[in-house]
Amino acid sequence: MVKLTIDGKEVVAREGQTVLEAAREAGIFIPALCYHHEVKPYAACRLCMVEVTRGKRTRFVTSCDYKVAEGMVVRTDTEKVQKCRRMVLELLMARCPNLPQLQELAQILGVDRVRFPEGDDDCILCGLCVRTCAEVVGLHALGYESRGFHRRVTTPFDEPSEECILCGACSYVCPVEVVPVVEEDGYRVMERWHKKSRLVACTKCGKFFMTEDELKFLQEKTGLPEERLKVCADCR
Ligand code: FES
Repeated sequence: MVKLTIDGKEVVAREGQTVLEAAREAGIFIPALCYHHEVKPYAACRLCMVEVTRGKRTRFVTSCDYKVAEGMVVRTDTEKVQKCRRMVLELLMARCPNLPQLQELAQILGVDRVRFPEGDDDCILCGLCVRTCAEVVGLHALGYESRGFHRRVTTPFDEPSEECILCGACSYVCPVEVVPVVEEDGYRVMERWHKKSRLVACTKCGKFFMTEDELKFLQEKTGLPEERLKVCADCR
């Protein structure tokens, strides 16, 4: 166990935990858009910045990928930290001016104007979709294209990815909900990734519950016969 102080509160964290995880468990709010406990931290959004003092040294770190240490003193709401977060949020809002999730955060953090030229993107480049596809699903259907201002997440060559099974995991983790999944006329559609797959019905209740691509993927992965996989979780 590791003892540290966060905002004056004594916190006992587990070895290997990040400052963000320890703070959350202690009920202390730190904004974090690119963090998800199921994937490795990537520290892309920079919103989780905190001030950390170890010994005589104080520095700013991203709390989602900074590990707790014995005796560490963390401050999550100093004026410098708040200023830094507001600047980061302003930059995100300039890139994506129409995201309600950012506007909500702006109210919490006290951002009332954006001083940078506005773009018209809707992706904050947190990379959660890319990392979830790779680390959780075990596929590489998504990746980054270009650099700097033009950087974006897309499928290889902007074409429907052969690897994508339309499982919807990327949609589930997207913190700004810009990867919608639609199910209509027996198909699951993810327009953002130019992908459509026929839905498979449960052989017991008849409810659509997975795509043909998911079924094929599971068959290859588990070696189980099709009839065993074509039963939904409720009927299993
Ligand atoms: S949550 Fe830490 S940088 Fe995004």
